[in-house]
Amino acid sequence: MTKQALDDQGYAGPVSVFDAEECARILSSVRAEAGPPPTWPKGWAAGSPAFHRVASDPRILDLVRPALGDDIVLWGTSLIVKAESDIHPFHTDVESMAPEGGFVTVWIGLENTDRSSGLKFVPGSHRYGVTVQELNHRAGIGRDQSSDETTLDAARRHDPAAEIVQPEVHDGEALVFDGRIWHGSHNKTKAVRTALLLQYARADRPVRIPRRYTWPLAFRTSPKPPVVVVSGAGQRAANRIVRAPRRSRQLGNGAHLLPVARLKPGETFASFQHFWGATPTLTDIECHSSILAPGSSPHALHQHLEEEILVVVSGTAELHIADDALGSVNAERVRMGPGDFAYYPAHQHHTLSNAGETPLLYTMLKWTNYGKPDDRRAARLAFVRAGGIVRSAAPGIGAALWQVRSRWLRRLHAHVSVLARGEGYAPHADRYDVAILLLAGSVETLGRDVVAPALFYHPAGTSHGIRATSVEPARYLVFELAGRPSPFAAIARLHHRLANRARRAS
Ligand SMILES: [Fe+2]
Ligand SMILES: [Fe+2]
Ligand SMILES: [Fe+2]
Repeated sequence: MTKQALDDQGYAGPVSVFDAEECARILSSVRAEAGPPPTWPKGWAAGSPAFHRVASDPRILDLVRPALGDDIVLWGTSLIVKAESDIHPFHTDVESMAPEGGFVTVWIGLENTDRSSGLKFVPGSHRYGVTVQELNHRAGIGRDQSSDETTLDAARRHDPAAEIVQPEVHDGEALVFDGRIWHGSHNKTKAVRTALLLQYARADRPVRIPRRYTWPLAFRTSPKPPVVVVSGAGQRAANRIVRAPRRSRQLGNGAHLLPVARLKPGETFASFQHFWGATPTLTDIECHSSILAPGSSPHALHQHLEEEILVVVSGTAELHIADDALGSVNAERVRMGPGDFAYYPAHQHHTLSNAGETPLLYTMLKWTNYGKPDDRRAARLAFVRAGGIVRSAAPGIGAALWQVRSRWLRRLHAHVSVLARGEGYAPHADRYDVAILLLAGSVETLGRDVVAPALFYHPAGTSHGIRATSVEPARYLVFELAGRPSPFAAIARLHHRLANRARRAS
């Protein structure tokens, strides 16, 4: 459907790509890119793992492949923020206006997107062979004088039936358009609208950096913009091809404060990404916290390749589980309170809602791992009610809760620890990753004093210790994630040995 619509109208969609939870997470991960983009305004394409991660999502590549074929490069990525009443007059994107085509842009609304804040197009204008800017320049119309009326006048000289359309689009939905189409926007809502722009080209199309964005145009001959191959093969004769920014950066040892369980007026959901990356035993681990208003749910039942652990930090959650997307097979609803957690195996359908009267705060760990999955004796869905445990068996020693082997992990273990003031253990390193969710009290760890709720992640081989500092006992959940042997496991073992030797020597 995309190809036909792209050929005929010059745009396709909206197509639903991301749910609310993913939109919030993408926003927080791309916003975390510090500083200006490298090389040129759209240079994040080649420099940012966060942008690259979204831009190489198979769901998005499936949208552009019918139009561009198998060999595709990504040349531009940006976050487009439009304040209330911001106008972006009709234009043709100058980098992709080459009359022979071969450029496709994917625009995805992430925040406050609707028809009155989204994009408008002149369908069919990709075939006019001329840009709005050139026509305006010839007619002596400046950027400030350009309007829907002047644009329509110009369009009707090419096609008397030309019109302006404004698709009904929402957060998480994509509009896919030909690089030559005339488009613009006017945010008529009372909110800041944020969208993601991902720009692709056929591998044989040279991408150029404009010297200026006004008419008459001029392009730089050097430097050539860096492009990244996201499907098939690139062509060095056409473009400067660079390596993809590392999809998985190595995670460091870290302490992460959880957000306050509060929402802005009118907001029903907020999500904060704490970290994502690779560790010595995991290819990809991601962690975020979300806040949900009473009665609301972040998304419909969904399932994915990754395994997940969901911990309720405060409030009351009702988890919805099923074996199908409609919730008609083996549906189950389970209530959980603070300190309780659930484990979802890969491809388990799940979602949740806030069943309490106050905002619900929960934290999720989500991971996949190297190589082939191992489903022999792999763990099933589990609900572990650890919230009621307020005292461990012996001071400082964790009460074991649950231990399994999973699709992606050799061993996944959980225990709860309660420490009186001054109790704890000295820094050491483990052969597995350790995630610690501090639910009550405060502790000293990694050289700082941290108050609950907080999360500590210690990749295999990194040094960590903990000591309770609060008058009330410090209570925390510990998850140990041990991946299967991998090329990186040997490195982890070496780190582990060196760290422990250094500790003994000191
Ligand atoms: Fe544009
Ligand atoms: Fe999920
Ligand atoms: Fe440890």
